Amino acid sequence: MPRITLIEFNGNEHVIEAEVGQTLMQNAMDNMVPGIDADCGGACACGTCHCYIEGAASAATGEVNALEESMLGMRPDREANSRLSCQIDVNDDMDGIVVRLPEYQM
Ligand code: FES
Repeated sequence: MPRITLIEFNGNEHVIEAEVGQTLMQNAMDNMVPGIDADCGGACACGTCHCYIEGAASAATGEVNALEESMLGMRPDREANSRLSCQIDVNDDMDGIVVRLPEYQM
């Protein structure tokens, strides 16, 4: 199980043992990590599962898909490392990655 660190905007850190094959969003919800709202339940229709993948870890999380790109385009707080966590399927290569959560979802 890859260990993933999620850091809330206020600095609170949560290290989770993530389940491979589940989305990063679902793993965060299952571990009751605040800062991921996921209002649409993972349908890529709300943008409230926004997160930032730190460092060089983005290669392990795959590419932004077209629907995700359109949702991210509506986020004023989008950065180069922005992702929607419901569009990332956790895999073993994600062990050790750090994910920051935006202020908007506090
Ligand atoms: Fe709604 Fe990810 S949960 S876009």
